[in-house]
Amino acid sequence: MASHPVAPGRGFLFALCVALPMVLGACRGQPSGEPPVVVIRNMHDQPRYDPQAGSGLFEDGRAMRPLPKGTLPREAPILVEVAHGTTETGDWVLEIPRPVVARAGGPERLVQRGQQRYGIYCAPCHGAAGDGKGVVSVRAAEVGAAALQATTLHDERIRHIPDGQLFGTISNGIRNMPAYRHSIPTEDRWAIVAFVRALQLTQSKGLTP
Ligand code: HEC
Repeated sequence: MASHPVAPGRGFLFALCVALPMVLGACRGQPSGEPPVVVIRNMHDQPRYDPQAGSGLFEDGRAMRPLPKGTLPREAPILVEVAHGTTETGDWVLEIPRPVVARAGGPERLVQRGQQRYGIYCAPCHGAAGDGKGVVSVRAAEVGAAALQATTLHDERIRHIPDGQLFGTISNGIRNMPAYRHSIPTEDRWAIVAFVRALQLTQSKGLTP
């Protein structure tokens, strides 16, 4: 033994490096009915209500609260008309879908919301009156970047495109105009459509918006 002082150490190292991982690894993937061993339990025992449980906190004595009015489940089927401005067969919808108007609280509220959003997202290029004379367009004209000049929204053609196509233009962009799908939520894009329609009406009748 005295001539092999290293031997026990090697045996121990072998056990540590090879045998121990094998023994521990053998437990992996085995189903167990036992609760897991958790050393620090402070996240395990949390005060909470179970489904259908009672609670003295609320008047109706239920812990599960009814959904707030107007809540939509994430899994709810999204109306293709609302999401894309097209019918199931791929044609542009002619008018703003009714559920959008209803959720906004009526046409006036939708137009008001649209006016505010238009001022933020469209007016810098298309101008507050929709005449295509926003600050970006004016600057683009000054530096000779004609391609970046926004068009007037009172063009005869644009006045007659379906509401869905206007929604699609805002969502997907068109030629030199960027897409606004990611910066403006769906319902707000419809609100802008409503306001652009109102703007077109007032301008075509020579009224101020
Ligand atoms: C960064 C500047 C910019 C912003 C912001 C912008 N547009 Fe435009 N828009 C343009 C330009 C440039 C064009 C012309 C594109 C072309 O013809 O190359 C255009 C074209 C359009 C057209 C005409 C599409 C067609 O059928 O020819 C509509 C409608 C329109 N924009 C609506 C909007 C609305 C609504 C908003 C606000 C959500 C908006 N734009 C925001 C730059 C902008």
